[in-house]
Parts: sequence; C-alpha cells; structure tokens
Amino acid sequence: MNRRLFLKLGGTFSLTNTWFAATANEARANSVRRQFRISAEAGKTNIVGPDFPATQVWGFNGQVPGTPIRIRHGEALAATIHNALEVPTAVHWHGIRLPNAMDGVAGLTQPAIQSGDSFEYEFTPPDSGTYWYHSHVNAYEQVGRGLYGPLIIEERSPPTVDRDLTWMIDDWRLRDDASISDDFGSGHDRSHAGRIGNVPTVNGRFRDIVKVRSGERLRIRLINASNARNFALSFGDLIPSVIAIDGQPVEPYEVTEPVIVGAAGRVDLIVDMSGEPGSRMPVIDSFYRESFDLTSFVYEDEALRDSSLQSSIKLASADLPEPDLSEAIAHDITIAGGAMGGLRRAKLDGEWMGLREIAQQGYVWAINDVIGNKLKMAPLIDTKKGTSIKLTIQNKTAFPHPMHLHGHHMKLLTIDGNTLTRPRWVDSPLLMPNQVMEFAFVADNPGEWLFHCHALEHHAAGLGALVRVT
Ligand code: C2O
Ligand code: CU
Repeated sequence: MNRRLFLKLGGTFSLTNTWFAATANEARANSVRRQFRISAEAGKTNIVGPDFPATQVWGFNGQVPGTPIRIRHGEALAATIHNALEVPTAVHWHGIRLPNAMDGVAGLTQPAIQSGDSFEYEFTPPDSGTYWYHSHVNAYEQVGRGLYGPLIIEERSPPTVDRDLTWMIDDWRLRDDASISDDFGSGHDRSHAGRIGNVPTVNGRFRDIVKVRSGERLRIRLINASNARNFALSFGDLIPSVIAIDGQPVEPYEVTEPVIVGAAGRVDLIVDMSGEPGSRMPVIDSFYRESFDLTSFVYEDEALRDSSLQSSIKLASADLPEPDLSEAIAHDITIAGGAMGGLRRAKLDGEWMGLREIAQQGYVWAINDVIGNKLKMAPLIDTKKGTSIKLTIQNKTAFPHPMHLHGHHMKLLTIDGNTLTRPRWVDSPLLMPNQVMEFAFVADNPGEWLFHCHALEHHAAGLGALVRVT
C-alpha cells in the first residue's frame, strides 16, 4: 500500500498565504420544466486509483459527485429525491434564492425524507451561475460520505470557451484500505478546523489528470464540497481570470495569487491554456502548511490554436436587489469559541453556562454568545421583507469560518475596514481568524433561513443561527 499517496492530516493553515482578498431576478416564466429523478443511495467508487480498493460512498444516484444538474436560466427545476439510504436525508440547493419550503433544511423547512420515501423539489432559479446541492441532514456525515452534486444554471449568453468544466473539489478522510474513516463529528474536528481529510479529489478522483490542448480556453467552475477544507489554488504560469464568485458574476479580473475557494464556495475561472504541447503542469494547493498537487494539466501533442481567444469573458451583471445603505439596519455579529478561542461562557437554550459544561454536550462555538444547538431557535435577525440589512461579522476565533446565509446573497463591502474596489456578492464568505467583514443585503425572501458555518463540524458544534424574514 503506497501510503505516501495520502497527505498528512492537519488543519493548521499557513499564515503566509496572501489572500486574493479579492477574492434575475426576472425569472422569465418560461414554461420549460426540467425533471430530474435522483436517488440518495450507497455506491462504490474508485477514489484513490487502481492500487487501492474501491470506496463505499453515499451518493446521489450512487455517484460522487452526484448526477450533475444543469438547466438553462429561466427554466424550472423539478427534482424528485428518493431516499434509498437507511437514514433520513434532505437536499439543500446551496446558493439558490428559492422559496423557503424548497430549501431542504430538514427540521426547519421540511421534515426529513425517511428511508424509502421521496420528496419533490420544484423551483425556478432566479440567477444563472455555479451552485451545488447536498444533504442537509447530519451533513457532516452525509456530505462527508459523498452526498453532493453540481447544480449549474447556464447563462442566456455565456462567454465563448472551448470547454466548460466543473471541478467539484472534495477532501476525504480515508483509511489505508481506502475506506472512509467513520469518525464523523469527532470532538477534535468539532473544536478545531473541522474534518480535514487526507485525500483531496477533483470530481471524486485523487491526483487525476486533465487533458488539455495548447491555445484552448477553458471555463473552470470550482465548487468546494469539502466538509471543512479550504483551498488556495495556483495554476503555475497560467493567469486565470475570475468571472464569478459564489455563482454571481464579477467584473473579470486576472489573478496571479492563489485562488481561494473556502468550503462551500464557488469560483468560476476562465483559463487560457498557454503551455507547450506535450508538457504537464500541476494545480497546487497551498492553503495549509503543506502544499500538494490537487490535479495536473497534461497538454496533448497537438496545439488547438497558436494564440488564445480574444473574445469577451464578461458575464451579464448580477441581478440582485441593491441594499439601501443609508436606511440599512445594522447588526454586529461576533463568532467566538473553539479551541484556543478564549470563550468562557455562552447561552445554551437561553441559559448562561460555562464553556466546559457546554462542551460536555458537544457544543463549542457561539454567535453573539448564543450556542446554535438547534435549527429552530429565536432568530438572530428578525426583519420585515424588503429591509436592507448591514452585517458586520467578526471572527474572534483561531480558525477560518466559511459563513453561509441561506436564501440570499450578501454584498461584501469591506474586509478589515478596507473598502473593496470590487464589492462582490457572496453566499459563503470565508472569514479568517480575527478578520472583520461588512456585508449588506436586502432581506427580500420570506421565511426562516439558516446562517451557519459551512465547516460542517462547526455547525454541528453550535456555529449556526437563524434569520427570519416576514
Ligand atoms: Cu450548503 Cu446550510 O448549507
Ligand atoms: Cu466554522
């Protein structure tokens, strides 16, 4: 067994990373309705290559990633999810601004789909872009076993590319026999960096290759489906352009620093393959202390064209309601707790308690001193539909947190007091330790929405809250 294939476990991130700190509504009721039938079921897939046995996974239609869902902007999506597992499940459509009843949070927006039962999801995504779907029941185990898939809403006029690739990135914790280590939600993972694995994959394969041709223009849709691992990807001497973040278009810009993709985040890149025919170039992750090759481009011997395409790569602008900053209601949000976090006490079920006592029940994180031990809780934010909200979120912990707001996108305005030259819409911003970010959004989608850390063990350990829009 070649153990060196596997990475060392570890959640210590490198502090030397430079952050590319930058880093439709008119769903024209088009009558097209796209029907998908998807079964959550056990499957087997070869993750680590021919030298290892196949891995038993849970996947949508038994595959990892699950069946890609790809529809056109304006089309309605109808998905029948059948639960062929022995445990309850439900499906969340991450990043889609959909009606609350379709949000897939079992215990909040619907009852879980019991073993043998089915649930019909139907909605018309208002925005085009790169999204994903995943289990939202015991997600730290179910997503960790493979219950996720890509969800792509095609633009009406996409930029011209030679190939449109989706790279669903994951991070598995496998034993030496390539079986999934079943220590889900361990105390250490809950209180530290989350479940960091030892086998990072692209589309379910460890250290695979991507064949390319010199001169080719690729669109690469990065989707980070890891439980907790964040990525900082370098593309050698290629200079990718970012065209969308968390599904929403940005004014294209070139990146020469590593591209950060926090857990649950998405980044759409345009990459012109300018390498020599016959050459090989690794895509390297350097988020944590030890860097590694995530995958490699291998150039065919024949070039596709001599120079790269010159056509525009700009997407139509995001079409989201603009918050009114002069009228916005401000909320300060502080994330605290975890190992080395210094949180002494917090409120659990409305009662102040010492952290030790709280930790005995498995909770270690708090938002504004409240432990999010339930889905249905008194809301952190309770607002009327149409209100502009300004959030100042401060990460007062020793770990990064990818914070996800359901049902909305937020405009990221400042990082550590610095106004962004390119404010961008996000649904899963990654806050580094001690970082402060300001956001604004219009709470325009009625319902009870989760706001939680997408390091899934952190959410399980209390890092979650509710936003209620009525
Ligand atoms: Cu990706 Cu609460 O979800
Ligand atoms: Cu977290």
